[in-house]
Amino acid sequence: MSAVSSPEEAEKAAAAQRSLEFVRDGMVVGLGSGTTAKYVIEFLGARVRAGLRVQGIPTSKASAELARAQGIPLTGFDRVEATDVTIDGADEIGPGLVLIKGGGGALLHEKIVASSSRKLVIVADERKLVERLGKFPLPVEAIPFAAAPVRRKLEGMGGNPRLRLDPGGEPYVTDEGNWIFDCGFGPISDPASLAQALKSITGVVEHGLFLGLASVAVVAQTGGARLITA
Ligand code: 5RP
Repeated sequence: MSAVSSPEEAEKAAAAQRSLEFVRDGMVVGLGSGTTAKYVIEFLGARVRAGLRVQGIPTSKASAELARAQGIPLTGFDRVEATDVTIDGADEIGPGLVLIKGGGGALLHEKIVASSSRKLVIVADERKLVERLGKFPLPVEAIPFAAAPVRRKLEGMGGNPRLRLDPGGEPYVTDEGNWIFDCGFGPISDPASLAQALKSITGVVEHGLFLGLASVAVVAQTGGARLITA
């Protein structure tokens, strides 16, 4: 189990712990990615080892590896139609539970799992709550072959794209072998229009705007966690 080493980590752990109230015996659970979702997988693993029967669908190779280490049986969309609940983190949470995700690079799998979930529960600390999306750079995942034209299109949209690099200075490569442009569009006043415009760029695989997908956010605050519904 991860050591809870700071107030921020304690908040993430508190949100993760509370989010498990949405998990029941027999459910298929979408397993998110990132530092908050990691606590969810660890706490869920502890319950599985205590007898809870669930199956997980991970949103990244890292989450799959952690889930296996925790003893959580895994399944996939070739065997089940949807998850009963998916619990995942977010980089920004705006009014109505519109989200920016993908800071950890798992946005494509995260959106696939979120889109096939009966319920998407977001776990976060209060710092992720915003009045308007756009302070956090918006990740846009593109096929490497299309990187140059995609970059030009994003520049033309005022997205100020920055190719995400790994610690060695090479392009960061996603689980699906793609690259990510982190974009600074500034405050996003019309997320739906931006989402549509990004999706229409040939070579863009996915973007980090998650709109109309989350139904509950479990937001940690000092001394516990509160629920926000869409
Ligand atoms: C990964 C994600 C994460 O959910 C998001 O980056 C939040 O992560 P953390 O809980 O570590 O702040 O979208 O692609």
